[in-house]
Amino acid sequence: MVSTPALVTSGCQYLPTPATDHPSPNQFLLPLTAKLNRHDHLEVGGCDVVDLVSQFGSPLYVLDEETLRTACRQYRQAFQRYYPGESLVIYASKAWNCTAVCAIVASEGLGIDVVSGGELYTALQAGLNPETIYLHGNNKSLSELKFAIEQGCTIVVDNWFELETLAGLDADLTSDRPIRIMLRLTPGIECHTHDYIRTGSIDSKFGFDPQQIEKVYEFISQQPGLECLGLHAHIGSQIFELQPHHDLGAVMVQWFQKAAQYGLPVQQLDIGGGLGIRYTESDDPPSIDEWVKTVCLGIVQACESQGLPLPKLIAEPGRSLIGSACVTAYTMGSQKEVPGIRSYVTVDGGMSDNPRPITYQSTYRAIVANRMLAETSETVTIAGKHCESGDIVIKNAQLPKTQPGDILVVMGTGAYNYSMASNYNRLARPAAVVVHEGEASLILERETYHDLVRQDRLPTRLVRQEANSASANQ
Ligand code: LLP
Repeated sequence: MVSTPALVTSGCQYLPTPATDHPSPNQFLLPLTAKLNRHDHLEVGGCDVVDLVSQFGSPLYVLDEETLRTACRQYRQAFQRYYPGESLVIYASKAWNCTAVCAIVASEGLGIDVVSGGELYTALQAGLNPETIYLHGNNKSLSELKFAIEQGCTIVVDNWFELETLAGLDADLTSDRPIRIMLRLTPGIECHTHDYIRTGSIDSKFGFDPQQIEKVYEFISQQPGLECLGLHAHIGSQIFELQPHHDLGAVMVQWFQKAAQYGLPVQQLDIGGGLGIRYTESDDPPSIDEWVKTVCLGIVQACESQGLPLPKLIAEPGRSLIGSACVTAYTMGSQKEVPGIRSYVTVDGGMSDNPRPITYQSTYRAIVANRMLAETSETVTIAGKHCESGDIVIKNAQLPKTQPGDILVVMGTGAYNYSMASNYNRLARPAAVVVHEGEASLILERETYHDLVRQDRLPTRLVRQEANSASANQ
């Protein structure tokens, strides 16, 4: 291993140099195992990223198992440290739902939150215990509800329509045991994040209006088929402030207190997720430990002041568990100079594998994996290959001089990249590998052209006769 040169502005500036023995993954741009190797290449999980691209092609999601496991452990250990009651961490799998990720997270003792029949099916395929699965969603279909209930999952009820639907379900679905539910409420807590990922304010499509909480409790208290285990709230995502989560504890404990008056067995409070990660040098999120400490203190103080027993405390982080554990490797292609205005360089993916820049104007940082020591010398705009001018991966990126064939790595792509990927322009979705101690295992196959047309159906009357007869005459 070559030692990292100090103070050189190159790809090496982003290599993790932890100041503590327990670095919080969400505070680093690269996975914790990222290193410079003797070929001047980026190595993650003991694997040379340039070699990974030769073996698996590009674009390629490279997920570092150690970073993901470290984040899972830090969440669990922090709850054990700061919360005197029972606690559970559940992974918000919307951040990246696939069987391998579900399996890794579950092997660390986490539960899982799913928001659709598809995410639930994936978690079950990964062998997860349904008792640890929570189904969210503001418009669950009847079949999604029945699927989750038959499996024995907990339903996080979002609104009156869903509550009444559950209350009216066939008795045979509830004959063995009541349906376990939690109630999602809108806490009315503001936080600083993008409007699209802010969910806690009163003007939100999610959750019951807390003004109606007594009516909801009263309704549930008359439903023998429903067992209301707890309350849930989520205030938003990519949040760097700690105060909103502290305040949320106090608000939730007030709701918790009221439930007892209706004889409901409410014993769990789920405070959602939301801790942010570092995407650029200027991002300064609190550590996992600090976030958990704040959340626990908020609940403990509120319960003490009300003289209430401690509930089972649940948190459901997504981004801060997996976001920093993954990088996306691209192969660079064409370049275009617009004199006096901008230099474009391109990659072989873009908004289909990472829709966050075009959706939320999210910013990322990139490095050249095959020349980590090369000094940063130019400002370029990294464009994707989609037929859309807005398909820009990074505006004004600082890179060394690059050429077609270089391997560009974008950092912090573990959360909401694969899970929001599309086939726009009929690009095949990338492969993903999990890397660990020098071994790379495929966890998502790269899609093929065949996959792209697999669901297409060509009605007989649209089959082109001319084309057929023309080819027959040749
Ligand atoms: N729980 C609930 C109910 C949620 O809605 C979410 C995220 C989470 C937990 C996890 O939040 P996290 O720890 O990941 O912040 N696509 C957007 C993010 C949408 C977040 C949706 N809900 C993005 O790419 O930034």
